[in-house]
Amino acid sequence: TSEENMVKGNLTFTEIPHCLDFQHHLPEHYSADILLRWGDPIQETNNPFHPEKLDAADQRQRFGYNNDFIAFMPLAADIQPDRGDLHIRSGNSSRGLLCVNHEYTQPHLMFSGYNDKYSATRGVSAQHVAIEQAACGHSVVEVERGPDGWRTLLGSPYNRRITMSTAMDITGPAAGNERLQTTADPSGTQVLGTVGNCAGGKTPWGTVLIAEEGFGSAFQGDPQHLDDPREARNHRTFGIRATNRNLGNYDRRFDIQVEPNEPNRFGWMLEYDPYDPKSRPRKLTALGRFEHEGFTLVCKPGKAVVAYGGDDDEHQFVYRFVSKGIYKPEDHRVNRELLIEGTLYAARFDEDGTGHWLPLVHGQEPLTEENGFHNQADVLIDARRAAALLGATPMDRPEDVETNPHNDCTYVMLTKNKKRQKSEIDAANPRAKNIMGHVLEIVPPGTYGNRDHTSDNFQWQQFLLGGNPNAEHPEERGAYGQQSSDNISIYGWFANPDNVTFDHRGNMWIATDGCERFGFHDGLWAMATEGPLRAAPKHFFGCPRGAEACGPEFTPDGTTLFVSVQHPAESRNSTYDNPLHRWPDNDPQLPPRPSVLAIYRNDGGAVGS
Ligand code: FEO
Ligand code: CA
Ligand code: CA
Ligand code: CA
Repeated sequence: TSEENMVKGNLTFTEIPHCLDFQHHLPEHYSADILLRWGDPIQETNNPFHPEKLDAADQRQRFGYNNDFIAFMPLAADIQPDRGDLHIRSGNSSRGLLCVNHEYTQPHLMFSGYNDKYSATRGVSAQHVAIEQAACGHSVVEVERGPDGWRTLLGSPYNRRITMSTAMDITGPAAGNERLQTTADPSGTQVLGTVGNCAGGKTPWGTVLIAEEGFGSAFQGDPQHLDDPREARNHRTFGIRATNRNLGNYDRRFDIQVEPNEPNRFGWMLEYDPYDPKSRPRKLTALGRFEHEGFTLVCKPGKAVVAYGGDDDEHQFVYRFVSKGIYKPEDHRVNRELLIEGTLYAARFDEDGTGHWLPLVHGQEPLTEENGFHNQADVLIDARRAAALLGATPMDRPEDVETNPHNDCTYVMLTKNKKRQKSEIDAANPRAKNIMGHVLEIVPPGTYGNRDHTSDNFQWQQFLLGGNPNAEHPEERGAYGQQSSDNISIYGWFANPDNVTFDHRGNMWIATDGCERFGFHDGLWAMATEGPLRAAPKHFFGCPRGAEACGPEFTPDGTTLFVSVQHPAESRNSTYDNPLHRWPDNDPQLPPRPSVLAIYRNDGGAVGS
């Protein structure tokens, strides 16, 4: 009965233990299909994958590296490309487009024997860089569930790669601004490629959002040598340094001494239509420029669209966007313009549990000429500086920010912040040298399931503190719901929340990035957000050593859970010379490979129940 569910919780799966080895781990009575690995073809080919024989053209026909965000976009049984919102309404859970980010590349794990010396003596760095540029970005792959599990459909007309060379448009208030103009694009409205694609989001009008997070490492050059001190400061905040890897030697626009404005064309959110394989992605400048983890949407008929996102860096901010236009469920042509125009806000979390959204609007104090903001484009390009001047609260690395459709509250994953000093502790970031991370709950005004996300005021509280509830050191001690330590098992605790999703019953599923430091694998933990077991996690999935779990995504019916396993075998002392440590193939001819898993219950029931 539902009353029993409230008491016992509806997450009845058998919990897995904390451990650390070179396998992935699932609860009893579950299976995982390894659906897509780095190098798997997405177009028809006769060539087997071999990293040493790969070139950039071949990589563009294959699944990219370091898979992160996943969106499952359903396809109805009988549709063809270019037929619009028919697909979106289908809700099909056994056929769809898997839309997957590829965050960054790791040549030392991709190419055997690769190191700086190797590249110097063999003179192959240019080729490596070209392959790496093709291995970043995003993949769209048609997938289907049959009697033998999930499979990819090679050569589907929907299948495509988006890379660091894909042509795209720049839209919104900063498009065309002089700070976005380059030699190759004097208009400041056309850009090649995307990089640092971490998490993302999806819209009810059938598009996918892609975040540009750590784009700074794709650029090379010393900001100090730029003529414009404003750009020098801007580039420095995103980690652009002379000592960065040498992409700029092989693709000159990534050298800031050659193209000082090129970095201003990265650090945005992107939107594209996976149902139209010829559609051009576009960068959305209205959502600001920073190290975007992702943006997720709240769409209510007749209301402005609200999008929430985080800037994943130490002491950076949580953001909200409110569209100028109104969401109309039946008018996707108009909805497709909603993220072009609106207001961006940064969050201030006050000590008394209230919170306020501070608008990033040019001309309103202090975002004025005296502070170097000449127009709205300046405010958006330098959103970090604008938010800081407004008095937004510096956070412990905001990762995913997502709303639970059941209770209509919004959850902020704060992964960690080793730089927070004791003197900088506040109610929203309560631990110095925060190595464990925590999760905040934002409660907009209104009632359960029906809240006003456009209001500029909200309530907030700590949802959980990462860490072991029995830890000796109070700064590392976890806190999970009302009864704290006795409502979770010894495997229920985790650290470093990163991505989050909600199943169709409103349970929260958190993916972690950093637990190995505490002696066990990263993975997934599931928990209720309401009732006696609120914030009491159960451990569902464990990654192979070195990997983080990313992009958890359910099919609409909740019977399949897709998860990205990113950078398996990554560590300072990688032992992947042993073929048995090369997840998932364990093949002496292949390196470890980032892969997407499709997880389901053997009896076909809802995952987690
Ligand atoms: Fe790419 Fe914020 O994790
Ligand atoms: Ca992430
Ligand atoms: Ca992370
Ligand atoms: Ca990672």
